[in-house]
Amino acid sequence: MTKNLNDVLRVSKDQEGLSRRKLLANVGKVTIGAVAAGSVIGFGAEKVLASDVNLKVNGQQVAAGAKIEKGRAVAQIRPVVEQLGGTVNWDNVSKTVDVNGKAVSGGSKYPAYPWPYKKLDPEVVRKRGYENYFKGGCMYGVAATLIETLREEVGFPYTDLPVEMYKYGAGGAGGWGTLCGCLNGAGAVMNLVTKDYGGIYGEIIGWYTEASFPSKKHEAYCKFNDQVQTVSKSPLCHASVTKWASASGAKIGSDEKKDRCAKTTGDTAARVVELLNQHMEGSFVAAYKPAEEFKGCLDCHKTALDNEQGKMNCVSCHDPHN
Ligand code: HEC
Ligand code: HEC
Repeated sequence: MTKNLNDVLRVSKDQEGLSRRKLLANVGKVTIGAVAAGSVIGFGAEKVLASDVNLKVNGQQVAAGAKIEKGRAVAQIRPVVEQLGGTVNWDNVSKTVDVNGKAVSGGSKYPAYPWPYKKLDPEVVRKRGYENYFKGGCMYGVAATLIETLREEVGFPYTDLPVEMYKYGAGGAGGWGTLCGCLNGAGAVMNLVTKDYGGIYGEIIGWYTEASFPSKKHEAYCKFNDQVQTVSKSPLCHASVTKWASASGAKIGSDEKKDRCAKTTGDTAARVVELLNQHMEGSFVAAYKPAEEFKGCLDCHKTALDNEQGKMNCVSCHDPHN
């Protein structure tokens, strides 16, 4: 049975006639390294302990009746743990103080969404994106690269995000060739750092459909120089990769194809950073416009008829009929 610790203390103290010293002896073995390395923090009812030493938790003064007793720092445990973002519960049956810090990291609570962003260097990210592709694929390559770089520039909370969760996007989500993982990873991070990500996300998807991949900006460190470039006309992994494989003659399972996708990953990560930097400083201007070859289709099917979902280039799949 779990109860409010202070209530239980009062009850058990009255009922069992326990002295405060005994209470401390029962539960005084909890060590909180973050507060005072090596010292033992106990707790007691508020009325008993007079606060005669200052107690700071991560730089913040905490009223926990702290005092020095026989050379040991003694304070109520609840205010300390709660300041760290954890919980304290008392199990009267097993006589257990249950301290849980699972929701805590670095002693701080997670900041409210969106998470802080700092301007990053697109070229640092381009190279890292290329390298990370080989560790977990395209979506991982973009998202982990941005998050790792934000770990360096911002630190917490990015230090706590398990980047492995982005591996699912490889091969257009589990190898299905749907949305290119580079774009999937781009959207995940853009959405994390700004609520208003729609404009720049649309921009990067449009940019991707018209870009010549892979760029020639990886020549200094890549495995295959001067690779064939293709324009996908589509955000789909299927169109992007298959078109390139066909033009280059490389097999989908080949090292050449992996190098091409690693470069595409770096190029997309770099573009995310350019767009985010502009977005954050208020200088972003949308440049992508649907190409003439399918603008008319959108005018009819999207605007007038309103019977079509999506912004993809229609003629990459349908024959024009008008
Ligand atoms: C002047 C308006 C107009 C334009 C421009 C237009 N469509 Fe259509 N489209 C229609 C109408 C009307 C139909 C028949 C009703 C329906 O199925 O929506 C149609 C039908 C279709 C169909 C259904 C298949 C079929 O043949 O029945 C497809 C696919 C299609 N259009 C694709 C396109 C594409 C791709 C473009 C641009 C290259 C395009 N449309 C441009 C009006 C337009
Ligand atoms: C990635 C390929 C792809 C793209 C890009 C695409 N479509 Fe389609 N579209 C399809 C498929 C697949 C269907 C379903 C065809 C079916 O099973 O009948 C479809 C269905 C349609 C239909 C209904 C067809 C019918 O049988 O009545 C219309 C209309 C249509 N698309 C218009 C468009 C327009 C307009 C665009 C561009 C804004 C577009 N599509 C872009 C693949 C695509």
